[in-house]
Amino acid sequence: MKAYGFRKELNITTMKEMEEMIEAAKKSIAHGKVANYIPALARANKELLSAAVYLPDGRHFEAGDTAERFSLQSISKVITLALVLMDRGEDYVFNRVGMEPTGDPFNSIIKLERVSAGKPLNPMINAGALAVTSMIKGENLGRRLERLLQFVRQIAANEDITYSKEISQSEFETAQLNRSLCYYMKEHGIITEDVETLMDLYTKQCAIEVNCVELARIGLVFALNGWDPVMKTQLIPEKIAQICNTFMVTCGMYDASGEFAIKVGIPAKSGVSGGVMGAVPRRFGIGVYGPALDGKGNSMGGIKLLETLSKKYNLSIF
Ligand code: DON
Repeated sequence: MKAYGFRKELNITTMKEMEEMIEAAKKSIAHGKVANYIPALARANKELLSAAVYLPDGRHFEAGDTAERFSLQSISKVITLALVLMDRGEDYVFNRVGMEPTGDPFNSIIKLERVSAGKPLNPMINAGALAVTSMIKGENLGRRLERLLQFVRQIAANEDITYSKEISQSEFETAQLNRSLCYYMKEHGIITEDVETLMDLYTKQCAIEVNCVELARIGLVFALNGWDPVMKTQLIPEKIAQICNTFMVTCGMYDASGEFAIKVGIPAKSGVSGGVMGAVPRRFGIGVYGPALDGKGNSMGGIKLLETLSKKYNLSIF
Protein backbone atom coordinates (compact mmCIF):
# COMPACT_ATOMS: atom_id res chain seq x y z
CA MET A 1 0.00 0.00 0.00
CA LYS A 2 1.40 3.42 -0.85
CA ALA A 3 2.03 5.79 2.04
CA TYR A 4 -0.68 8.45 2.13
CA GLY A 5 0.65 11.79 0.94
CA PHE A 6 3.90 10.33 -0.38
CA ARG A 7 5.42 12.41 -3.12
CA LYS A 8 8.68 11.91 -4.92
CA GLU A 9 9.76 15.43 -5.84
CA LEU A 10 11.43 16.20 -9.14
CA ASN A 11 15.12 17.07 -8.97
CA ILE A 12 18.21 16.92 -11.09
CA THR A 13 18.18 13.10 -11.23
CA THR A 14 14.77 13.42 -12.92
CA MET A 15 16.41 14.18 -16.25
CA LYS A 16 18.39 10.94 -16.21
CA GLU A 17 15.32 9.01 -15.09
CA MET A 18 13.34 10.56 -17.91
CA GLU A 19 15.93 9.48 -20.49
CA GLU A 20 15.61 5.92 -19.17
CA MET A 21 11.83 6.06 -19.24
CA ILE A 22 11.93 7.29 -22.83
CA GLU A 23 14.16 4.42 -23.91
CA ALA A 24 11.79 1.97 -22.20
CA ALA A 25 8.66 3.63 -23.66
CA LYS A 26 10.15 3.48 -27.16
CA LYS A 27 9.75 -0.29 -27.03
CA SER A 28 5.98 0.19 -27.05
CA ILE A 29 5.73 2.16 -30.30
CA ALA A 30 6.46 -0.61 -32.79
CA HIS A 31 2.78 -1.03 -33.69
CA GLY A 32 2.02 2.68 -33.66
CA LYS A 33 1.22 4.59 -36.84
CA VAL A 34 1.67 8.27 -37.65
CA ALA A 35 -1.52 10.13 -38.56
CA ASN A 36 -1.96 10.04 -42.31
CA TYR A 37 -5.41 11.53 -42.87
CA ILE A 38 -3.64 14.92 -42.80
CA PRO A 39 -0.96 14.28 -45.46
CA ALA A 40 1.61 16.67 -43.95
CA LEU A 41 1.55 14.71 -40.67
CA ALA A 42 2.30 11.43 -42.44
CA ARG A 43 5.90 12.57 -42.92
CA ALA A 44 6.67 12.55 -39.18
CA ASN A 45 9.38 10.18 -37.92
CA LYS A 46 7.55 7.69 -35.75
CA GLU A 47 10.69 6.80 -33.78
CA LEU A 48 10.80 10.21 -32.08
CA LEU A 49 9.92 10.48 -28.42
CA SER A 50 10.55 13.36 -26.06
CA ALA A 51 9.26 14.78 -22.81
CA ALA A 52 9.59 17.84 -20.62
CA VAL A 53 8.30 18.83 -17.22
CA TYR A 54 7.98 22.47 -16.17
CA LEU A 55 8.03 23.45 -12.51
CA PRO A 56 6.44 26.50 -10.87
CA ASP A 57 9.89 27.88 -9.96
CA GLY A 58 10.71 28.18 -13.67
CA ARG A 59 13.04 25.16 -13.86
CA HIS A 60 12.33 22.54 -16.44
CA PHE A 61 13.66 19.07 -17.18
CA GLU A 62 13.70 17.67 -20.67
CA ALA A 63 14.76 14.41 -22.30
CA GLY A 64 14.72 12.82 -25.75
CA ASP A 65 14.24 14.66 -29.05
CA THR A 66 13.17 17.92 -27.44
CA ALA A 67 14.23 20.23 -30.27
CA GLU A 68 11.45 18.81 -32.49
CA ARG A 69 8.57 21.18 -33.16
CA PHE A 70 5.13 19.70 -33.76
CA SER A 71 1.63 21.00 -34.32
CA LEU A 72 -0.78 21.22 -31.40
CA GLN A 73 -3.69 19.65 -33.32
CA SER A 74 -6.35 18.76 -30.75
CA ILE A 75 -4.30 20.12 -27.84
CA SER A 76 -5.25 23.53 -29.24
CA LYS A 77 -8.88 22.76 -28.35
CA VAL A 78 -8.22 23.32 -24.63
CA ILE A 79 -6.45 26.62 -25.25
CA THR A 80 -9.16 27.87 -27.60
CA LEU A 81 -11.81 26.87 -25.08
CA ALA A 82 -10.09 28.97 -22.41
CA LEU A 83 -9.90 31.97 -24.77
CA VAL A 84 -13.53 31.66 -25.83
CA LEU A 85 -14.77 31.30 -22.25
CA MET A 86 -12.91 34.54 -21.49
CA ASP A 87 -14.38 36.13 -24.63
CA ARG A 88 -17.98 35.04 -24.23
CA GLY A 89 -18.64 33.68 -20.75
CA GLU A 90 -19.88 30.25 -19.69
CA ASP A 91 -23.57 30.70 -20.54
CA TYR A 92 -22.95 31.68 -24.15
CA VAL A 93 -20.46 28.85 -24.75
CA PHE A 94 -22.36 26.07 -22.99
CA ASN A 95 -25.64 26.99 -24.66
CA ARG A 96 -23.93 25.89 -27.86
CA VAL A 97 -21.57 23.10 -26.72
CA GLY A 98 -22.25 20.46 -24.06
CA MET A 99 -20.20 19.11 -21.16
CA GLU A 100 -20.52 15.34 -21.55
CA PRO A 101 -17.97 12.79 -22.77
CA THR A 102 -19.04 10.85 -25.85
CA GLY A 103 -17.04 7.61 -25.78
CA ASP A 104 -16.86 8.00 -29.58
CA PRO A 105 -13.83 8.70 -31.79
CA PHE A 106 -12.79 12.36 -31.99
CA ASN A 107 -14.22 12.97 -35.47
CA SER A 108 -17.49 11.09 -35.03
CA ILE A 109 -20.71 12.68 -36.30
CA ILE A 110 -23.09 10.14 -34.81
CA LYS A 111 -24.11 11.86 -31.57
CA LEU A 112 -24.79 15.14 -33.35
CA GLU A 113 -27.76 13.52 -34.99
CA ARG A 114 -28.80 10.85 -32.53
CA VAL A 115 -28.44 12.63 -29.19
CA SER A 116 -28.24 16.36 -29.30
CA ALA A 117 -29.90 17.91 -32.39
CA GLY A 118 -26.76 19.48 -33.75
CA LYS A 119 -25.32 20.61 -30.39
CA PRO A 120 -21.94 18.92 -29.93
CA LEU A 121 -21.60 17.01 -26.68
CA ASN A 122 -18.29 18.55 -25.59
CA PRO A 123 -15.55 20.96 -26.75
CA MET A 124 -12.82 18.29 -27.09
CA ILE A 125 -14.37 16.32 -29.96
CA ASN A 126 -13.98 17.91 -33.39
CA ALA A 127 -17.60 19.06 -33.66
CA GLY A 128 -17.42 20.88 -30.32
CA ALA A 129 -14.00 22.31 -31.06
CA LEU A 130 -15.17 23.69 -34.41
CA ALA A 131 -18.11 25.36 -32.66
CA VAL A 132 -15.72 26.80 -30.05
CA THR A 133 -13.34 28.15 -32.70
CA SER A 134 -16.28 29.90 -34.36
CA MET A 135 -16.74 31.84 -31.09
CA ILE A 136 -13.25 33.41 -31.06
CA LYS A 137 -13.86 37.15 -31.10
CA GLY A 138 -12.27 39.50 -33.66
CA GLU A 139 -13.21 41.73 -36.62
CA ASN A 140 -11.92 39.29 -39.20
CA LEU A 141 -10.14 35.96 -39.56
CA GLY A 142 -6.66 37.52 -39.35
CA ARG A 143 -7.47 39.31 -36.11
CA ARG A 144 -9.06 36.20 -34.55
CA LEU A 145 -6.02 34.09 -35.43
CA GLU A 146 -3.67 36.76 -34.11
CA ARG A 147 -5.54 36.90 -30.79
CA LEU A 148 -5.28 33.11 -30.45
CA LEU A 149 -1.58 33.13 -31.35
CA GLN A 150 -0.89 35.90 -28.83
CA PHE A 151 -2.63 33.88 -26.15
CA VAL A 152 -0.59 30.75 -26.97
CA ARG A 153 2.64 32.80 -27.02
CA GLN A 154 1.81 34.19 -23.60
CA ILE A 155 1.07 30.88 -21.88
CA ALA A 156 3.94 29.09 -23.63
CA ALA A 157 6.29 32.03 -22.93
CA ASN A 158 7.62 32.24 -26.46
CA GLU A 159 6.85 35.27 -28.64
CA ASP A 160 7.96 33.44 -31.80
CA ILE A 161 5.29 30.77 -31.79
CA THR A 162 3.34 30.58 -35.04
CA TYR A 163 1.51 28.02 -37.18
CA SER A 164 2.83 25.79 -39.95
CA LYS A 165 1.46 26.91 -43.31
CA GLU A 166 2.23 23.51 -44.78
CA ILE A 167 0.26 21.60 -42.13
CA SER A 168 -2.70 23.99 -42.08
CA GLN A 169 -2.93 23.94 -45.87
CA SER A 170 -2.68 20.16 -45.95
CA GLU A 171 -5.54 19.80 -43.45
CA PHE A 172 -7.61 22.52 -45.14
CA GLU A 173 -7.45 20.62 -48.43
CA THR A 174 -8.49 17.29 -46.95
CA ALA A 175 -10.86 18.10 -44.05
CA GLN A 176 -14.12 17.05 -45.68
CA LEU A 177 -15.39 15.27 -42.56
CA ASN A 178 -14.86 18.39 -40.44
CA ARG A 179 -16.65 20.43 -43.12
CA SER A 180 -19.61 18.09 -42.87
CA LEU A 181 -19.67 18.50 -39.06
CA CYS A 182 -19.75 22.28 -39.62
CA TYR A 183 -22.59 22.12 -42.15
CA TYR A 184 -24.56 19.89 -39.83
CA MET A 185 -24.13 22.36 -36.97
CA LYS A 186 -24.88 25.29 -39.26
CA GLU A 187 -28.17 23.67 -40.17
CA HIS A 188 -28.98 23.69 -36.43
CA GLY A 189 -27.82 27.25 -35.80
CA ILE A 190 -24.83 26.29 -33.61
CA ILE A 191 -22.52 27.82 -36.20
CA THR A 192 -23.55 30.86 -38.16
CA GLU A 193 -20.38 31.89 -39.99
CA ASP A 194 -19.14 30.86 -43.42
CA VAL A 195 -17.85 27.27 -43.17
CA GLU A 196 -14.74 27.88 -45.31
CA THR A 197 -13.71 30.82 -43.10
CA LEU A 198 -14.15 28.65 -40.02
CA MET A 199 -12.18 25.78 -41.58
CA ASP A 200 -9.40 28.23 -42.46
CA LEU A 201 -9.18 29.46 -38.86
CA TYR A 202 -9.53 25.97 -37.33
CA THR A 203 -6.84 24.37 -39.49
CA LYS A 204 -4.43 27.22 -38.65
CA GLN A 205 -5.27 26.81 -34.96
CA CYS A 206 -4.49 23.06 -35.15
CA ALA A 207 -1.22 23.78 -37.01
CA ILE A 208 0.24 26.04 -34.29
CA GLU A 209 3.68 24.60 -33.52
CA VAL A 210 5.47 24.14 -30.19
CA ASN A 211 8.21 21.96 -28.76
CA CYS A 212 7.63 19.82 -25.70
CA VAL A 213 9.18 22.33 -23.29
CA GLU A 214 6.70 24.97 -24.46
CA LEU A 215 3.92 22.42 -24.20
CA ALA A 216 4.95 21.65 -20.62
CA ARG A 217 4.93 25.40 -19.90
CA ILE A 218 1.31 25.60 -21.14
CA GLY A 219 0.49 22.54 -19.00
CA LEU A 220 1.98 24.30 -15.98
CA VAL A 221 -0.37 27.28 -16.37
CA PHE A 222 -3.34 24.88 -16.42
CA ALA A 223 -1.87 22.92 -13.48
CA LEU A 224 -1.82 26.15 -11.46
CA ASN A 225 -5.39 27.00 -12.46
CA GLY A 226 -4.42 29.78 -14.83
CA TRP A 227 -1.60 31.31 -12.78
CA ASP A 228 1.73 31.99 -14.48
CA PRO A 229 4.24 31.60 -11.64
CA VAL A 230 7.14 32.97 -13.67
CA MET A 231 5.46 36.18 -14.83
CA LYS A 232 3.37 36.26 -11.64
CA THR A 233 0.14 36.91 -13.54
CA GLN A 234 -3.26 35.23 -13.65
CA LEU A 235 -3.38 34.48 -17.41
CA ILE A 236 -6.63 32.51 -17.30
CA PRO A 237 -9.33 33.11 -14.67
CA GLU A 238 -9.25 30.31 -12.09
CA LYS A 239 -12.79 29.09 -12.78
CA ILE A 240 -12.11 28.85 -16.53
CA ALA A 241 -8.87 26.92 -16.02
CA GLN A 242 -10.76 24.54 -13.70
CA ILE A 243 -13.35 23.95 -16.42
CA CYS A 244 -10.60 23.21 -18.95
CA ASN A 245 -8.86 20.82 -16.53
CA THR A 246 -12.12 19.00 -15.93
CA PHE A 247 -12.71 18.55 -19.66
CA MET A 248 -9.18 17.20 -19.97
CA VAL A 249 -9.99 14.54 -17.37
CA THR A 250 -13.37 13.54 -18.82
CA CYS A 251 -12.67 13.87 -22.57
CA GLY A 252 -9.02 14.89 -23.12
CA MET A 253 -7.97 11.49 -24.47
CA TYR A 254 -11.26 10.87 -26.35
CA ASP A 255 -12.59 7.35 -26.09
CA ALA A 256 -9.50 6.38 -24.11
CA SER A 257 -10.15 8.94 -21.35
CA GLY A 258 -11.41 6.37 -18.84
CA GLU A 259 -8.42 4.07 -19.19
CA PHE A 260 -6.05 7.05 -19.09
CA ALA A 261 -7.70 8.31 -15.89
CA ILE A 262 -7.13 4.92 -14.28
CA LYS A 263 -3.57 4.40 -15.51
CA VAL A 264 -2.22 7.97 -15.38
CA GLY A 265 -4.82 10.01 -13.54
CA ILE A 266 -4.01 13.59 -14.52
CA PRO A 267 -5.78 16.19 -16.69
CA ALA A 268 -4.26 15.74 -20.17
CA LYS A 269 -4.95 16.49 -23.81
CA SER A 270 -3.64 14.68 -26.85
CA GLY A 271 -3.29 15.63 -30.51
CA VAL A 272 -2.88 13.54 -33.66
CA SER A 273 0.57 15.01 -34.27
CA GLY A 274 1.63 12.89 -31.26
CA GLY A 275 1.73 15.62 -28.62
CA VAL A 276 0.24 15.16 -25.16
CA MET A 277 -0.04 17.98 -22.64
CA GLY A 278 -0.38 17.08 -18.97
CA ALA A 279 -1.29 19.30 -16.04
CA VAL A 280 -0.48 17.89 -12.62
CA PRO A 281 -2.63 20.04 -10.34
CA ARG A 282 -0.59 22.47 -8.21
CA ARG A 283 2.65 20.69 -9.09
CA PHE A 284 3.87 20.94 -12.71
CA GLY A 285 3.16 20.81 -16.43
CA ILE A 286 4.19 18.00 -18.77
CA GLY A 287 4.78 18.08 -22.53
CA VAL A 288 5.29 14.87 -24.45
CA TYR A 289 5.86 14.24 -28.15
CA GLY A 290 5.82 10.89 -29.92
CA PRO A 291 4.11 10.70 -33.32
CA ALA A 292 3.43 6.94 -33.32
CA LEU A 293 -0.29 6.76 -32.50
CA ASP A 294 -2.58 4.05 -31.23
CA GLY A 295 -5.92 3.27 -32.89
CA LYS A 296 -7.65 6.07 -30.98
CA GLY A 297 -5.31 8.81 -32.16
CA ASN A 298 -3.23 9.10 -28.97
CA SER A 299 0.59 8.92 -28.78
CA MET A 300 1.59 5.35 -27.89
CA GLY A 301 5.02 6.17 -26.52
CA GLY A 302 3.65 9.31 -24.90
CA ILE A 303 1.01 7.41 -22.96
CA LYS A 304 3.47 4.73 -21.90
CA LEU A 305 5.83 7.44 -20.68
CA LEU A 306 3.07 9.22 -18.77
CA GLU A 307 2.07 5.95 -17.12
CA THR A 308 5.64 5.43 -15.93
CA LEU A 309 6.01 9.04 -14.78
CA SER A 310 2.71 8.85 -12.94
CA LYS A 311 3.73 5.70 -11.06
CA LYS A 312 7.20 6.94 -10.26
CA TYR A 313 6.15 10.40 -9.04
CA ASN A 314 2.75 9.46 -7.67
CA LEU A 315 0.91 11.87 -9.97
CA SER A 316 -2.63 10.51 -10.04
CA ILE A 317 -5.17 12.93 -8.64
CA PHE A 318 -7.44 10.05 -7.67
O1 DON B 1 -9.55 18.16 -36.70
C1 DON B 1 -8.68 17.31 -36.84
O2 DON B 1 -8.95 16.20 -37.27
C2 DON B 1 -7.27 17.60 -36.39
N1 DON B 1 -6.85 18.90 -36.78
C3 DON B 1 -7.12 17.45 -34.92
C4 DON B 1 -7.55 16.09 -34.44
C5 DON B 1 -6.80 15.59 -33.28
O3 DON B 1 -5.71 16.02 -32.94
C6 DON B 1 -7.39 14.44 -32.58
N2 DON B 1 -6.50 13.99 -31.54
N3 DON B 1 -6.09 13.03 -31.11
